[in-house]
Amino acid sequence: MEVVVAPAAELARIAAGAVEEVLRTRPAPVLGLATGSSPLALYDELARRHAEKGLSFAHARGFLLDEYVGLPPGHPERYRAVVGRELVARTDLPPDAVLGPDGDAEDLPTACAAYEAAIDAAGGIDLQVLGVGTDGHVGFNEPGSSLASRTRLKTLTARTRSDNARFFGGDAEDVPHHVLTQGLGTILRARHAVLLATGEAKAAAVAQVVEGPVSARWPGTVLQLHPHATVLLDDAAASRL
Ligand code: GLP
Repeated sequence: MEVVVAPAAELARIAAGAVEEVLRTRPAPVLGLATGSSPLALYDELARRHAEKGLSFAHARGFLLDEYVGLPPGHPERYRAVVGRELVARTDLPPDAVLGPDGDAEDLPTACAAYEAAIDAAGGIDLQVLGVGTDGHVGFNEPGSSLASRTRLKTLTARTRSDNARFFGGDAEDVPHHVLTQGLGTILRARHAVLLATGEAKAAAVAQVVEGPVSARWPGTVLQLHPHATVLLDDAAASRL
């Protein structure tokens, strides 16, 4: 695991550099796209490179890390919509080239299996962008998630619903209970995993992810098993290392 501690703006540039390398060197680049606040500066930087340097996403594909179940069509917090706003609308990444697990499906297990098959059919994910929850979750793999898990239905903890309430007008009751998420085993198969974490609120989880024992209690510790994981931290997030 490679750990870099730098100011937040520099972290976004480092992550964007890794994405740019994939875009420039892979004939059919495949990006794993996370949501939450952690990757926003990265998406800003990628949009800037697209506008100013002509960095092209035209031949890329994107796979969402996770998705809510039960949000109505058109809801702005559907992760498909978030990635649409933050990346697709600001680059030439074709909207049809972005797939997510289908949280509207009647048969969710079948939809999850189809999502894994779609990732495989695309040749696997070249670079997976990740954040980390205050409880150490990656994607929506809450504590207790199998380290070998694949895309599946999960129930959010009260803590994660409370952490994400800020995206829903501040009321945790409006945050869905259920989600579909790439599994920890899915994340392990990405060729490069890049985790971004900033701020003191992430320091305890980061300390576990980087230095704690590998355990389903802190799902992000699975990255210690990844052959190419990069953890990008600001001083506050790294403060308990
Ligand atoms: C959410 C997302 C995760 C994200 C995490 C941290 O639950 N499903 O992918 O990494 O929260 O979010 P933030 O970056 O907003 O702190």
